[in-house]
This record gives sequence, structure tokens and C-alpha cells, in this order.
Amino acid sequence: MLHFDNKIFFATNNNNKILEAQHVLSDFKVLVEKIDIKKVEIQSDELEEIVLYALKKMGKITYPIVVEDSGLFIEKLNGFPGPYSSYVYKKIGCNGILKLLENENERKAKFVSIVGFRKGRLIKIFRGECYGKISYKMAGKYGFGFDPIFVPENEEKTFAEMSLEEKSLWSHRGKAFKALGNWIRLHKYI
Ligand code: IMP
Repeated sequence: MLHFDNKIFFATNNNNKILEAQHVLSDFKVLVEKIDIKKVEIQSDELEEIVLYALKKMGKITYPIVVEDSGLFIEKLNGFPGPYSSYVYKKIGCNGILKLLENENERKAKFVSIVGFRKGRLIKIFRGECYGKISYKMAGKYGFGFDPIFVPENEEKTFAEMSLEEKSLWSHRGKAFKALGNWIRLHKYI
């Protein structure tokens, strides 16, 4: 018999996301377990829409489940890559973004994370944002994706130069999962 007390299932194949969620939600005594369940992804300019669609398409599930979608929005590139971050990362990586911003001093960017929680028919959406800038070169060896080129506001280091704990203090995902943790605590939802 599976026991779901204080546990949520995170539908992702990104182990870094699992570790970040586990770290943040451990403060709320909530366990996070990876679950291998198909996440249907539509193409949309809105991360919220992608998350809502994925949650609704999961059919009948009784246990608490979470999906997350995130993206890097670069001001000078009109928000590119945004919801297409995963695809763009695979195609051109950090170096490709540095190339797009070559000779550009206006390097403001933000990361956005949308966390969707579902239990039965109840769905809640939480948003986390992290403002910062794109560095001039890659730095650091931790994390994943665009971490080596993103420097959060009031910091000198990239996310990839920070430990998971430090990144989570500032990060979009840290904020979104913290909001989920607070909501769960307040509503005693799982
Ligand atoms: P998705 O949320 O799985 O669609 O992926 C979003 C993409 O945005 C990832 O593949 C990364 O390239 C990028 N991304 C999202 N969050 C982060 C982060 O915390 N650090 C670095 N890159 C991120």
C-alpha cells in the first residue's frame, strides 16, 4: 500500500528540478517524489497555459501532483526564448545566447517558473520570477540549462556558481515552490 502522507509527485524528467523542489519543500515538511507520467506539452506563449493543459490532461489521479514549466525571458530579444527555452537550449545552448547578445550592453533578463498543483479536481497555480542579467561569458559548473549565463539581481555570481541552497534563495523555482509550500501549510492540503 503506497503512503501519500505529506508527499507530492512531481511529473518531470529533470532531476535538477526535483532536487530544487525537494530542497525548498523540505522546509514545509513536504516530500517530493519524481513520477514518470506523461506531461502533454502544448505550444503556447503563456507558461500558465502550458501547465494548466498538462495538469488537466493527466486524467483521473487521486494523489497530489505537480508540474512545472519555466523559461528565460531576455528583454533585448523581446522576451525570447521564453516558453521555447527548452528547445532553444537544446539547439543553441548558452553560447548561442551569448552570441545573440554579442556587443550588447543591455542584458536584462528574467527567469519565470510556473508551478501547477493538482489534487483531484482542485488546481492551483504558483508563479515565481527572478530578475537579473545575462553575463558576458559562461561561469560555474553547478545547476543546469542557462545557469552558467544568468546572474540574479544584486549578485555577482551566476546561478551555476551557486550551491543549490543559494540558488533556491533567489530563483524563480525557489519562489514558486515556496509559494506552494506556504499554501499547503495554510490549507493543510496534503
Ligand atoms: P521546461 O520548464 O522543462 O520547459 O524547460 C525550460 C528550459 O528553460 C530549461 O530547459 C532550461 O534551459 C531553462 N531553464 C528553466 N529554469 C532554469 C533554471 O533554473 N536554470 C537554468 N535554466 C533554466
